[in-house]
Amino acid sequence: MSTAKSSPLDSLYDVMQGNETDVGGGEGNEGTYGSITQAGMAQVLQCMKERAGFGSDSILVDIGSGLGRPLMHGFYEGMAKGYGLECDAVKCEKAVKFCKRVVSEACSKGLLDRRYCALRTRLVFWHVDIEQLTGLPDEATHAYSFWEGIPDPAKCKIGELFTQSQTLKAIAVVGRSLGRDPAQRMADTFGFGRLTLLGKFGASMAGSGRSMTAYVFSK
Ligand SMILES: C[S@@+](CC[C@H](N)C(=O)[O-])C[C@H]1O[C@@H](n2cnc3c(N)ncnc32)[C@H](O)[C@@H]1O
Repeated sequence: MSTAKSSPLDSLYDVMQGNETDVGGGEGNEGTYGSITQAGMAQVLQCMKERAGFGSDSILVDIGSGLGRPLMHGFYEGMAKGYGLECDAVKCEKAVKFCKRVVSEACSKGLLDRRYCALRTRLVFWHVDIEQLTGLPDEATHAYSFWEGIPDPAKCKIGELFTQSQTLKAIAVVGRSLGRDPAQRMADTFGFGRLTLLGKFGASMAGSGRSMTAYVFSK
């Protein structure tokens, strides 16, 4: 018999799982759906905290945001505000419902601070195709993007907009290996300009367990 006690973060992920089912799953009309596991996301945010100043004043933008799961984890870490950018209308609609329900249930269970109940001031979704974007939210300080299913031209657009942003100081990307010199590859292939690699670790996809690599970069 297992004696492992579940943590509040485990409970938040349970709340997310229940509500994902209730909103009809994370699938939409187009694009891949999926998130990395709780452990992988925790490692990404820990690296951002330790090496890129992620904290209570931070504003995270998830580029290709699906249901908004990484943003819920960001709230658990105490960040100030989140943005989700997503091209699929169905996922956007589900995300609004999902996040409202997760925040409400998690606040009532004491898993999230009550200040997040004022969700409208804390979370903004943009229904947008990254390739059509002219700028990232001009108050975002940190970015996250899980690249599975995001086409290369959209990744290049992220590179261009991240480089132009006056406020973004770090980005985490999760996907296939970027080879031996990830910062150089981000610059050469996706137009990110000069980056510093802050962290690199294995992350698996929730559900399928597919192996991915997570990278955290600063400008
Ligand atoms: C692998 S999922 C990651 C979802 C979310 N970030 C997470 O980790 O749970 C990638 C998301 O990017 C979205 N996406 C793909 N191409 C896009 C584009 N050009 N513009 C905006 N969103 C896009 C997909 O619809 C999908 O929801």
